[in-house]
Amino acid sequence: MIENCLSKAQVINRYLPATLTAKEHATAFAPSNIALCKYWGKRDTELNLPTNSSLSISLGHLGSHTQISHSHSNIDIVRLNNKVQDPQSSFHLKVIAFVNLFRRSQTIGLIIDTRNTIPTAAGLASSASGFAALMLALDDFFDLQLADQQLSAFARMGSGSASRSIYSGFVHWEMGEQLDGMDSVAHQLDTQWPNLRIGLIKVSSAQKPVDSRTGMDRTTATSNLYQNWPAQAAADLITLDNAIKQRDFHAMAACAEHNAMSMHATMISAWPPLVYWLPESLAVMQRVWQLRESGVAVYFTMDAGPNLKLLFEQSSQALLETEFSQLDIIVPFGD
Ligand code: PMV
Repeated sequence: MIENCLSKAQVINRYLPATLTAKEHATAFAPSNIALCKYWGKRDTELNLPTNSSLSISLGHLGSHTQISHSHSNIDIVRLNNKVQDPQSSFHLKVIAFVNLFRRSQTIGLIIDTRNTIPTAAGLASSASGFAALMLALDDFFDLQLADQQLSAFARMGSGSASRSIYSGFVHWEMGEQLDGMDSVAHQLDTQWPNLRIGLIKVSSAQKPVDSRTGMDRTTATSNLYQNWPAQAAADLITLDNAIKQRDFHAMAACAEHNAMSMHATMISAWPPLVYWLPESLAVMQRVWQLRESGVAVYFTMDAGPNLKLLFEQSSQALLETEFSQLDIIVPFGD
């Protein structure tokens, strides 16, 4: 792992003009995303440079709306879903640390207002859409006019998966190889898949005991299975790219499930072990496998948490709604 060769500020400063002029206010939206080939492990923890490329699907209008305006004092105010956040909370501190990369020495107090449209019942992480929306809002607020690839690279410094939330639809994040990470950016694939559905199953809304940053670092440092992960991810990406081009649902969804289970295998083999599953998670997995045995085209993926995301097509929707009463259905290519 390359540690802190360059700081975020050093990289970003190369691309910012010496003086920035702030507008009165700016707003932006970014969708949340779910990885079909997961980003798991970093080669640079400061810049969030990954050890493998990844591929995701953005969740249409479900994501984060962020507004930036002047607070007309030197005090920063961070709101999340209409609630002012404690200045010592990790949410406030993370948002302000990111904003400071752009505000630099300017003494202007800001109000950063974020509203998530991800259903609260869904149990989805919002850091990807949150940092992408914040990056887009900063771009507008300071009139930076950054190219999409720069927006993706800078959003990545907030949270790795935010690099993908700059785009809608299927998104490929190329791991890149440069030290400054400016080639570690995402791009959109041009395939649309209107029949595709994602079903969120929340088995717990409790705060996860180990966040993904800590989980990734522990896995790369201690799991003997991890050394196989980058090669599997690279092979899965090729399979997924082809399956998406051909809209081959079984090939795409089977590869996504296998990829998620393999990532979880690396977590389970970390020390101390990282088991994000709850008994209820396993019960849903087993039900999915039974349904598949009986001919229903349904697969799942999971991130660093106990909740499941079912993958299926419109033709199976009615049946799955009766099977899983708590299913929250997303149509990623819906509007
Ligand atoms: O972007 P982060 O630091 O929240 O990490 C995301 C990690 C996974 O959700 C497990 C996988 C992914 O590619 O989104």
